[in-house]
Amino acid sequence: MRKAYEMGFGKTSSEYENVSLDIQGKIPPWIEGELIRNGPGTFRVGDEHYRHWFDGLAMLHKFSIKGGKVGYTNRFLGCKAYDQALQTGRISFSEFATDPCDKLFHRIKTLFRPKLTDSAKVNVAHFDSRYLALGETPMQIEFDRKTLESCGVYQYDRNNMHVTTVHPHIDTRRGELYNLVIRFGRKSTYQLIRSKGHTTEPVARIRTTHPAYIHSFGSSPNYFILAEYPLRVYPLNILLSGKPFIENYRWQPEKGTLFYIISRQNGKTVCHLETEPFFAFHHVNAFEKEDKLFVDLIKYPTAEIIESFYLDKIKSEKKPLPGGRLVRFAMDLLTGKLKEYALSDEDVELMRFDHERFNMSPDYNIVYTTGLNKNAGNSFYDQLTKIDLSLGSSKIWYQKGCFPGEPVFVGKPGRTKEDEGVVISVVLDENAGRSFLLILDAETFSELARVNAPHAILFGYHGEFFQDTE
Ligand code: CO
Repeated sequence: MRKAYEMGFGKTSSEYENVSLDIQGKIPPWIEGELIRNGPGTFRVGDEHYRHWFDGLAMLHKFSIKGGKVGYTNRFLGCKAYDQALQTGRISFSEFATDPCDKLFHRIKTLFRPKLTDSAKVNVAHFDSRYLALGETPMQIEFDRKTLESCGVYQYDRNNMHVTTVHPHIDTRRGELYNLVIRFGRKSTYQLIRSKGHTTEPVARIRTTHPAYIHSFGSSPNYFILAEYPLRVYPLNILLSGKPFIENYRWQPEKGTLFYIISRQNGKTVCHLETEPFFAFHHVNAFEKEDKLFVDLIKYPTAEIIESFYLDKIKSEKKPLPGGRLVRFAMDLLTGKLKEYALSDEDVELMRFDHERFNMSPDYNIVYTTGLNKNAGNSFYDQLTKIDLSLGSSKIWYQKGCFPGEPVFVGKPGRTKEDEGVVISVVLDENAGRSFLLILDAETFSELARVNAPHAILFGYHGEFFQDTE
C-alpha cells in the first residue's frame, strides 16, 4: 500500500503543545494569527478500524504564526465518542459510514435511540465569541482556542433536529449564524435556522418525505439556495436497517436535482428549478446580477464520490478519485429557467476564496482548491489549483509524493487585488514521513515557505485562519 495512505488514514500517536517548528523559506511578517484545522485524529480504536474518510475521532490542529515563527499544538477533541473509545478500547458510536461492531446489541439500542457521533470533526467556526468544532449532528463542541481543550456541547437547536451542515453562513457584522438542519420523521423537514446569541429561530421550512444528503447550501444577498440532490433516504431506514448512516441513502436519478430558492426576507420559497441529476458537497459562492441569480458549486455527475472515499477503495489504488467540476448555474427566477456553465476543466474539491471581501459578490474571480493531477492518477487529492474565472485559466502546485489539504486563503491587510495574500495548506509528504505547512504566494502560486510538522497529520477536511485581532 502507498505510504501516504498508510500514514494519512492511520492513527495519531502524539499530542504536542505549542512546539516550535522548523521553517524553510520566509513567512511574510504581516501574517499573524492561527490556522486551526479539523479532521480525523485516528481511524483505529483498539483492534477496530473505521471504514470511510468521513469517519474517525476528531482532532484539532493549530499552527500559530507570529513574527515569522510557527508554533504547533494538536489535541483529540474531547467528546463522548472519544471518551468511550478510550475507556472501552472499542468504537462505541455510529459514524458516517461505520457502526460499532457489537451488531446484535447495537441493533436493539438503535431501535430506541441511534447513538450518532458527537465527534465534531469536519470544520471549525468562530461565532458568538466562541470557537466551535462542527460536525453533521446538531451538537457542536466548543473549544478553548489557546489549549484546544473542549468546553462542552454547543447546540444550535434543541428541537429534535437530526443532522445539520458543517458550513453555516456566518454574518459577523450582525452576529448571526444561518444553517440548514434536517428533522427526520414520517414527514421530514429541511429547516433553515438563524442563531443570534442564545436564541435560535426558524427562518424557513420545507417538508419532504425522502430527504437528501446535503453537505452545504448557498447564500446570496436576497436568497438562500438549497440544492436537493437525488441521494435520498427513507428516514425510518436509518433507525431500522442496522446499516451505517450514509448507507441508507439511495441514488435516485429519476428525481433529478431540485434548487429551492428561498427569500431571506420572509423565508418563502420563491421558486424551485429542476435540473438533471447531480451531486455536490460544496456550494462555492452565489451572487445576483442583472435580475439573475448565479450559483457556483463543485459538481459530480453521481454520488459515486462518497463510495470512493471508503478507505479500502482509496488504499487499493485501483481507480483514480473522481474529480468534481466547478460549475455555475445562471438562474432566471421570473421564467424559472436555468443554464449551466463549466468554469474550469480541472478536477477539484475543498475550495476557498477571499470570503471576507468577495462573499456573495459578482466581482469574485479567484478560487483555490485541492485537486487531482491529471497524469498521476492518484486515488486521493494530490495537488493545489488556483482557478481564475475571468481568464478561464489555472495555476497548479504539485510535488510527487505530496498530498495537500484544503488551501486556506489569508488576505494581506489593506489588499487591493483579489489574490494579494497567501494560501496555506497542510501537506502530507510521504517521502519525509510527515506533514508540512505549505505557504504559497496567492498571486504567483509559488512557494514562500514550508514549515515542518513533527508528525504525519491525517487527511483532514476544513479549517479556518483566525487573525490575532479576533
Ligand atoms: Co465540507
